[in-house]
Amino acid sequence: MQVKVANKAGFCYGVKRALDLALTEASNNAGPIYTLGPLIHNPQVVRDLALQGIQELSDLDQAEGGTVIIRSHGVGPEVLEKSEQKKIKLLDATCPFVARAQKYAREMTEEGIPVYILGDPGHPEVQGILGWTKGKGIVVESADEISRVEHPRVGVVAQTTQPLTNYQRLVEAFQKQGVEVDARNTICHATGERQQAAWELAQEVDVVVVVGGKTSANTKKLAKLCEETGTPTYHIESAEELRQEWFRDCRKVGLTAGASTPDAIIEEVKRRMSELDQMTNGDEAMDPAMEV
Ligand code: F3S
Repeated sequence: MQVKVANKAGFCYGVKRALDLALTEASNNAGPIYTLGPLIHNPQVVRDLALQGIQELSDLDQAEGGTVIIRSHGVGPEVLEKSEQKKIKLLDATCPFVARAQKYAREMTEEGIPVYILGDPGHPEVQGILGWTKGKGIVVESADEISRVEHPRVGVVAQTTQPLTNYQRLVEAFQKQGVEVDARNTICHATGERQQAAWELAQEVDVVVVVGGKTSANTKKLAKLCEETGTPTYHIESAEELRQEWFRDCRKVGLTAGASTPDAIIEEVKRRMSELDQMTNGDEAMDPAMEV
């Protein structure tokens, strides 16, 4: 059985940066260290961080001194204000691409134009961007939610993980109404590249394994894209979930991973796939030449 890993898979720049910042803080600082929400959507990594003394909070009020790390999704200004009032030290690990979307949202709000935020209303990144519009932003998941716009000019920003086509459709929907659009494409390339690589991979293999947190939006999206090609797809968080029967009669298997999946977990899954293949197919097992 051949295993091919997608040429873009696993940690993106912003997630790796947040994790590096957290680990550096943990090794340099003796006081308590917290993250506001899980630092990344990967349970194994969150468990490892807890072992290193980095605890997860759901609210700033739970912090007892020490440092609170703002994760790559970012937060609204109300969190920064509250930390100042409570004299809590913050370590801001907001991804620079998310920070750019927040800055645009703030600038457009200051200009007085309605800001449309394209994204998942329940996602913390979208909630953070919304905060920078003083709560006046309008969150939409697609162009279908737009009705007649009264304002002659609107602003548009997008959650960094949005598909480009969804963003383009929204901008066009405003233009068709004759509304002037200050359109800021804040979609991150890392997401698009991973999606494209996963989609291409799924078309040339018998089965795809997608590794990443079950609550990770970008991992779920990768799995959905692979499924849509018609290739059997399995979304797992760790190597223990792999099942021998998935690979019966398979000649080529694809492996990809969400932006919050560390290389070590991808490697472990690859190793376990090789073991299962040995158990199923013996001598004709995995062809190392095909590993990427
Ligand atoms: Fe940042 Fe893009 Fe990752 S916005 S957190 S580099 S997916």
